[in-house]
Amino acid sequence: MRGRSGWLAGRDESPTRPARHGAIGHRGTEARRKPNNSSCLGVSVAHFSVSRSPWDDVRHGLLALGAAAMFGLTIVASEKAPESYVKNMKDTNAEAAELRKSVEVKNYDASAQHAATLKTLFANTLSFWENRKTDDAVGFAKAGIQAATDLETAAKAKNEEGVTASAKALNATCKSCHDAHRERLPDGSSAIK
Ligand code: HEC
Repeated sequence: MRGRSGWLAGRDESPTRPARHGAIGHRGTEARRKPNNSSCLGVSVAHFSVSRSPWDDVRHGLLALGAAAMFGLTIVASEKAPESYVKNMKDTNAEAAELRKSVEVKNYDASAQHAATLKTLFANTLSFWENRKTDDAVGFAKAGIQAATDLETAAKAKNEEGVTASAKALNATCKSCHDAHRERLPDGSSAIK
């Protein structure tokens, strides 16, 4: 289930290039990794063994899968997210895109409102991961709530520096959590890992 073209695609979710959320510098990282796509087993295994976490994106997942098949390693299966979780993420994505626009044009009222909505959306994300007792994800969701709270306060005070800093922190939580817990399947859809 995609519907990506209908989304308010921000920098993070390019419909033409389904990269993960992008923090600054991610494009560079991805470009550097590209040649490994077509790499032979030797390079794949090397890539697998040097990467910080073999699960941090689909390519790693596939390389690891290949390595696991070869060497009989145990692999972690991904899991389809519940409908409600996917909806919450899509809403989060749309709201974050709106927030970026309002921050760019320095519309403080709109920024405060989007930040307030994001607090609620992050709170939904938080309870999902609390129920699963996944500590790092709980931490990322809490960091999201904190960043949205800070952003709302800064926007209400028309504190431009504060808005910029907390918007950056807010967007960073997406990438942190996705690197750890979002799996990109070969068809471009997502799952939980
Ligand atoms: C605490 C963890 C966590 C945080 C924080 C988080 N996400 Fe996600 N997100 C996930 C996971 C896990 C998935 C994969 C679930 C799925 O969609 O199948 C996902 C999937 C998505 C998807 C794909 C939904 C689909 O169609 O399947 C989008 C878009 C998305 N997130 C946007 C965001 C944005 C934007 C932010 C930050 C403003 C964010 N997420 C913050 C964990 C998180």
